[in-house]
Amino acid sequence: MTNNENPWNLLFVICYLLFVICYLLFVICYLLFVIWNLLFGICYLEFVIWNLLFGICYLEFIKIYNNKKVENTMAFKLPDLPYAHNALEPHIDEKTMQIHHGKHHNGYTNKLNAAIEGSDLAGKSIEDILSGVSKHSGGVRNNGGGYYNHSLFWSVMSPKGGGTPSGDLGDAINKAFGSFDGFKEAFGTAAKTRFGSGWAWLIVKADGSLAVTSTPNQDNPLMDIAEEKGTPILGLDVWEHAYYLNYQNRRPDYVGAFFNVINWDEVSKRYAAAK
Ligand SMILES: [Fe+2]
Repeated sequence: MTNNENPWNLLFVICYLLFVICYLLFVICYLLFVIWNLLFGICYLEFVIWNLLFGICYLEFIKIYNNKKVENTMAFKLPDLPYAHNALEPHIDEKTMQIHHGKHHNGYTNKLNAAIEGSDLAGKSIEDILSGVSKHSGGVRNNGGGYYNHSLFWSVMSPKGGGTPSGDLGDAINKAFGSFDGFKEAFGTAAKTRFGSGWAWLIVKADGSLAVTSTPNQDNPLMDIAEEKGTPILGLDVWEHAYYLNYQNRRPDYVGAFFNVINWDEVSKRYAAAK
């Protein structure tokens, strides 16, 4: 028997071939595994990137939502005074202006925001709120009025104020009250005779004519509960907190001094917008 005929040699060759085939299969599987892992890695990276993008979008959404919520719940801000606290002296003193604006008006503003927070009034204009005030709480009525009234009050005064109005407003005042002195008398009487705390107003009525009226507490002629309704273009605060430090119980002196600081340019603008 020769070596070539040795059955062990044949068996060895077959085993070797099987080993090579298995090894090749193993290499192919390994390559497939590597490719699969690469694909999986790419997919995983994509997944991570998508999650990051989603997270960023979500955070932005939360930020916008919270900002909107803050805007809605803090709709009203205390307006800055358009002049220094001492600018209206000697007619209205610095200390009164500091307390009146920084404490009283600020208090009305904060309490109004608290009263409307989370309600369907959040986001509405103050005029809209006041026009339907009979449907709302006492807190909305008092603090909404206080917010609106004082915002108007600061704007219709000026250290360069006083004198008499001219143009369309001057003509309308003469028509409604006979003369500027007639207006001054009517407005002064409304301010001096308002019992307790309240406001005197010059308003534009629905027919475009002017009238003088007064309201108690923080009510105003925009409110649906007002006896005489109209758009206020001039208002005078006759609460004691507006004058007591300088004038004590002398309300008529305070009312007289107010005419020295009336900003007729602003009142004329309000008249033009309202008539
Ligand atoms: Fe006031």
